[in-house]
Order: sequence, then structure tokens, then C-alpha cells
Amino acid sequence: MIAVEELRKAFRVTTRRTGGFSAIRALLPGATSYVEAVRNVSFTINGGEMVAVLGPNGAGKSTTIKMLTGILVPDAGTATILGLVPWQSRRAVAKRIGVVFGQRTQLWWDLPLSDSLDLVRHMYGVPTQRFAENLATCRELLELDPFLDRPVRQLSLGQRMRGDLAAALIHDPEILFLDEPTIGLDLVVKARIRDALRHLNETRGVTVLLTTHDLADVARLCQRVLLIDHGRVVHDGGLEALRTRFGSGCTLVVDLADPSTPGQAPSAKGDETDQRNDGPMVVPGAIEIRAEGNRHWLAFDRREVSASDLIAAVASRYPLSDLTLEEPDIETVIASLYASRTE
Ligand SMILES: Nc1ncnc2c1ncn2[C@@H]1O[C@H](COP(=O)(O)OP(=O)(O)OP(=O)(O)O)[C@@H](O)[C@H]1O
Ligand SMILES: [Mg+2]
Repeated sequence: MIAVEELRKAFRVTTRRTGGFSAIRALLPGATSYVEAVRNVSFTINGGEMVAVLGPNGAGKSTTIKMLTGILVPDAGTATILGLVPWQSRRAVAKRIGVVFGQRTQLWWDLPLSDSLDLVRHMYGVPTQRFAENLATCRELLELDPFLDRPVRQLSLGQRMRGDLAAALIHDPEILFLDEPTIGLDLVVKARIRDALRHLNETRGVTVLLTTHDLADVARLCQRVLLIDHGRVVHDGGLEALRTRFGSGCTLVVDLADPSTPGQAPSAKGDETDQRNDGPMVVPGAIEIRAEGNRHWLAFDRREVSASDLIAAVASRYPLSDLTLEEPDIETVIASLYASRTE
């Protein structure tokens, strides 16, 4: 359905000179440089898949979507959408895909939403009956009725986004390209949009490729994640696989038994393991990162020591009253991944 091979796109940017008189500066040529927005992106997507594109700001997500929808022409590489090259067969591709750029509306600012949708019908030549059915579906799925007759300029962001999505759906697209469709929306509207997308995917088999910074979008909708960074795909797989691959840093929270408690000795066994619980805990493969009273937080890397080996090592050295294993949540994994890569 979508096949992308080694796509590349660089933008020429001109930086104005600084310092000196602005009148003279304006006459001087600026320095030209290139931003490699997309360096090497390859993937294939089958019909009926819902795939999320994740990545830090500036990673190349929107640029990729723009090439796949025929808005931008790549410098190198190939892409076919439904067997067509989008930047060569822009109109033919446009008839079969729906596109929403969450940051920018594609509706007519001064027209009521209903008129905008009618214009879309004309542009795509949607038969009257089909339009009526699709509009009815959109009105219900996206709850358009309260603002259908209001000019787009008067709509709230959440209403406008639902209007944009309706406009993208009016011509029965086989694929939806959504660039940040839930940006800035409240939880209720986000849920409504996710439900609508899932419904379209389940009932009509619509393929969805969406970019987002909201991991709940991914968790609720997509079995597959393409993580893009510096213009390259660095992960292609499930969200859980992302955690397994990049989230190896875990924390073991240890509650040491109070040595003053009768029957509890400060050491568990033998002389060489005579560790007192008033200093930092010393366990091979882990580092104490925090301590409060009898509670100690031990950070470790699952790739170097397994949780069970670590627990055994702790138990053989210290008298314990409780243990908890804290795995990093996916938000933390992605945040640390973005932070390290942006640096
Ligand atoms: N028209 C343009 N001219 C010059 N540079 C551009 C242009 N469009 C994008 N870029 C640059 O290309 C890089 C990738 O931008 P892109 O918009 O694809 O990122 P993104 O992954 O969508 O980021 P975000 O999460 O912020 O939306 C950035 O460095 C950006 O500044
Ligand atoms: Mg973007």
C-alpha cells in the first residue's frame, strides 16, 4: 500500500548576516547552507495497518509525510502510494488519500464548515448519495452538528480539527496521512478522534499513517511505530519493543529490615556480607541513586544484570523487608531517547 525506499530531502536555507548596519546587511548576500531534513527513510506499510511516526522536533516526520502526499519532491529515493508515485501523480493520489495537517487547516476560513465540505465534494467529484452517507457518518463519529453551520474561523481548535478530519474523509480515502491530528486537543476530543480513526480502520479497512507526540495515540491506535531521528528510521516495531530495546534502565526499590527489630540482624549471612544499612548499599551491577530511611533505590541496566540475579545478590547481602521493581514507563524511555539524541 505504501512503499518507501531511501527517501532523502534537504532544504536550502539562507542565514542573514548579523551585526553592522541593517541597511547594508540587507544588501549583502546571506550565507547558504543545507538542512538534511530526511536522510534515509525506508519502510513499507500494508493495507489496513495503523502506523505511528514518532520522533523529536525536527526529526523529519512532516517532511516525510509531505513527500508521501506529493506536496514535496524528494532529492533522492522512491515512494509509491497505491502503486503511484505521489509527486508524479499528485491528482490521482489525492483522490485516493486523505490528509490532515493538524497545525494548519485545509478548510475555507470564511465559509461555514458545511460549505467547506460541499466544496471538497465538488473537488473530488463525490457522488451525491455517497457524500450524504459519508457526511452522516462524519457527523456522528466526529459530533459535527453543534458547529456544522459556523464559519471555520469561529471554530475552536478541537472543532476545527474534527472539521478537517471530516474534509479528509468525504471522498472515501483508502489511506489517511495525519500529521499531528491530536495536537493541542483536550482529552475528550482526543478520545473522539481516536475512536473515529479506529472505527474507520476496523469497518472500512482504512490504512492510517499518523505522526504524533502523544504516546496515548500510539498506545490506543497503532501496533507499529516508526521512530524517526535525524532523518532516519531508528526503530520499526511495536511500542513495547521500543521499551525493551531502549528502556533497559530499571530501578530496584529495597526496604531494608529495621536492625532494631527483634530477630533482624543488620547482616543476612556470614562475615563477608556484613553490610550495615546506614550507608549506601553496595551491590555488584547496581548503583544506589537515592535513600530515605530504610528505603534505597538501586539503578541497574537490565542488559548487564537481570532483575532476578540482582534481587538474589541484594537478598544475600542485606536483611530485607520489601522489594519493588520499577520499570521505566514508555514516556520516560522516549523522553530520555529524545534527549540523548537531540544532544
Ligand atoms: N521548508 C523548509 N525550509 C527549510 N527547512 C525546513 C523546511 N521544512 C522543514 N525544514 C527543516 O527540516 C527539518 C525537519 O523538519 P520537519 O518539519 O520534517 O520535522 P518534524 O519531525 O515534523 O518535527 P516536529 O515534531 O517539530 O513537527 C527541521 O530541521 C526543519 O527546520
Ligand atoms: Mg512536524
